[in-house]
Amino acid sequence: MKLIDNHGRQINYLRLAVTDRCNLRCFYCMPEKGIDYVERSALMSFEELMRLVDIVTKLGITKLRVTGGEPFLRKDLLGFLQMLKESNLEEVHITTNGTLTHDAVPQLKDLGIRSVNLSLDSLDRNRFDLITRRDRFETVWRTFIQLLTYKIPTKINMVVMNGQNIADLIPMAELARKYEVDVRFIEEMPFNGTGSTPDVPWTFRTIHDHLKAHFPTLALIPAAESSTASKYSVQGFKGSLGIIAAASRTFCGSCNRLRVTPQGMLRTCLYGEGTFNLKDMMRAGATDPQIMQAIVEAVGNRAKDGFEAESSRKNGIVSESMASIGG
Ligand code: 5AD
Ligand code: SF4
Repeated sequence: MKLIDNHGRQINYLRLAVTDRCNLRCFYCMPEKGIDYVERSALMSFEELMRLVDIVTKLGITKLRVTGGEPFLRKDLLGFLQMLKESNLEEVHITTNGTLTHDAVPQLKDLGIRSVNLSLDSLDRNRFDLITRRDRFETVWRTFIQLLTYKIPTKINMVVMNGQNIADLIPMAELARKYEVDVRFIEEMPFNGTGSTPDVPWTFRTIHDHLKAHFPTLALIPAAESSTASKYSVQGFKGSLGIIAAASRTFCGSCNRLRVTPQGMLRTCLYGEGTFNLKDMMRAGATDPQIMQAIVEAVGNRAKDGFEAESSRKNGIVSESMASIGG
């Protein structure tokens, strides 16, 4: 079976947040004091998550990304990844902040993890500490090198923040000259858990022009239609560069993804409010066909893009922490 939304887009990718906890406090994601974490019992259990995976693979989902919060804070994450390996999914990917990941890298390789997205917003120790409000730069760097050593395809995600890490744009891009890595620059979004909207002069266009001025051979590489990143090559680079218009939302027309928040809410758009709670439905005794039907209905009522989803919110402006949605 295929999951097709009301705008004709096929959904085959699920982003699954396994915890809302994090050991960093990136200021584009959380206030300094952190967010109010939910009770452990409000997270979906691994059994519930595997039941969900079984259901969505029957609906044509082939690709899954494990996110958080920080996924490696979830107890026995590796046991869960082993279960995923035995599922009908074709690809499993992980997004991590790299602070607790290093020692697990050989196992990630054995578990067939297809790629790892590593959050890294600065190569300068002081700026890293300011942005994450923690001092884990060396640890994250070791994780990066370990991922390359084990030949796990790696992407670095850098959120571009006005007045914070602009000086890092070129040095970060230079990593792709030296290493086989995709370095992706992400427009800052308002999911910072504070209710304040960031000033975002660093849009797709300004990031692109800044890179182009420095790397004249920057050239667009054709990428999968559903990709949120525009991908670029630079002559002499081993890896590639990417820009993600996360705030401008120019890629929604080909969006192929669903999200499940740490609490089990199904979201058909990052900017929307969520449709129904899978965990509650399971705990209330719903059958697999009932859950399947609810997912099909939610997908059949999908906003056409992130702007429509945002304007149909009932509970006001976008301000949740990304950790409570799934980064
Ligand atoms: N804007 C853009 N990206 C964000 N992320 C988290 N919060 C934001 C935000 N406000 C993304 C980053 C980070 C991942 C965990 O989530 O890419 O690397
Ligand atoms: Fe943690 Fe990721 Fe949020 Fe940073 S962006 S505080 S690493 S969940």
